[in-house]
Amino acid sequence: MIGKLNHVAIVVPDLDRAMTTYRDALGATVSEPIDLPEHGVRVAFVELPNTKIELLLPLGENSPVAKFLERNVDGGMHHLCYEVDDIITARDKLVAAGARVLGNGEPKIGAHGKPVLFLHPKDFCGTLVEIEQV
Ligand code: CO
Repeated sequence: MIGKLNHVAIVVPDLDRAMTTYRDALGATVSEPIDLPEHGVRVAFVELPNTKIELLLPLGENSPVAKFLERNVDGGMHHLCYEVDDIITARDKLVAAGARVLGNGEPKIGAHGKPVLFLHPKDFCGTLVEIEQV
């Protein structure tokens, strides 16, 4: 059911420093940062030939990644995002298989303007999983 790895998201304590690390030390192409207040993050995208890395900085008081950064002060890997053709079909199949969908279970529009859902890490090998309809 899942397709390509769309991105790996890393929460960082200092976005400028993370962008410099990926651009200068690792030699990757890094986008300008953008604020996504509805998701509580400032994000910059690292473009790789086969996927993307999302560098996430908490934005605002109720950022969903703020607690993660409290527990992981140097930052760390936050979630994996897999592509699906049809997010509703994928969700229904996952729920039928016993997986827990986070939030109200309805897709939200994600950082790339496409519908996304998050799945409970305890159901996926301890990893927060995002699915994105492409
Ligand atoms: Co993501």
